[in-house]
Amino acid sequence: MDTSDSEGDSRKSNNKPKYSKFSQQELPACKPRLTPGTVVVAFSLIGVIFILIGLASLSASQEIVELVDRYDADCVPTGDKVGFIQNSETDKICTRTLTVPKHMKSPIHIYYQISGFYQNYRRYVKSRSDKQLRYKNDVHVTKDCHYEANTDDGAPIVPCGLIAWSMFNDTFAISVNKNTIEVNKKDIAWKSDKNNKFGSDIYPSNFQKGSLIGGAKLNESIPLSEQEDLIVWMRTAALPTFRKLYGRIETDIMANDQVTVVIQNNYNTYSFGGSKALVLSTTTWIGGKNNFIGVAYLTLGSLCLFLAMGFIVLYMVKRRTLGDPTYLSWNRDTLDHRY
Ligand SMILES: *[C@@H]1O[C@H](CO)[C@@H](O)[C@H](O)[C@H]1NC(C)=O
Repeated sequence: MDTSDSEGDSRKSNNKPKYSKFSQQELPACKPRLTPGTVVVAFSLIGVIFILIGLASLSASQEIVELVDRYDADCVPTGDKVGFIQNSETDKICTRTLTVPKHMKSPIHIYYQISGFYQNYRRYVKSRSDKQLRYKNDVHVTKDCHYEANTDDGAPIVPCGLIAWSMFNDTFAISVNKNTIEVNKKDIAWKSDKNNKFGSDIYPSNFQKGSLIGGAKLNESIPLSEQEDLIVWMRTAALPTFRKLYGRIETDIMANDQVTVVIQNNYNTYSFGGSKALVLSTTTWIGGKNNFIGVAYLTLGSLCLFLAMGFIVLYMVKRRTLGDPTYLSWNRDTLDHRY
């Protein structure tokens, strides 16, 4: 008797859920009461913080010094521009002089900017073989590379496709006050692209050997993962006006210095009416020159402050007196009729 009873007791106590604050729904909880006061304080706080961030971003963007020099029109003779560009005998050197308006702090980024070039065109953007770029055993996988897949005798072009074929091939040599400045072209491509998308054991072959040259040639003794200009070019731009990183200058340039750029004007933007420009730009923590973030923060911050004001007027200045039921009816007459 005794034993069976105590057994039953112990079974019962085993079935009981283990006590915890969670199973008993006793966890501490935060139940904010959204009174007009707290709402006004919250909106004002968010508004002030956003306006401060907006002002900081705008001032960082204003600090950036950016020089843009469009050179495509001045660097060809008037007349047959396409013929001039396609002729390998013509002298394509073009010298440009820029005056720096404000002290430019290193690193100064050098970009080329192209307009009217639709790198997002569907048949262009698909004309590449990611397998071939990455794996040595797949160098013959060129089925997606329409128009620039194989040579006439069937050997695969590495890298194949229209994107690689149309790679930018202008060059820039820069000097400041007649002293040559070294342009650092290391680490201009994304690290992830270099490590994960382009093979370190794949070398260019049969590239740019056809009858129509689309752009730059590649050094066949350098593996694809080290061809940073190619990697930058193959990260296709989404819009028809785009900038791509060319290199960096690692010395400061003072205000009123004369920057001389010797351009090899090779790339053919003339046959499709595009334009080319050289961009020198410093950077800050927000990146390049762009006011959008600052303006967006200022707009949202002002909106929050405006809403806070609205709440003050609606709920704190014009508040109804407690215990007054008249607000329930549209006018007093209906009330009087009913009673
Ligand atoms: C540069 O590219 C153009 C096509 O845009 C081509 O006609 C020219 O031959 C190329 N020049 C060099 C030096 O690679």
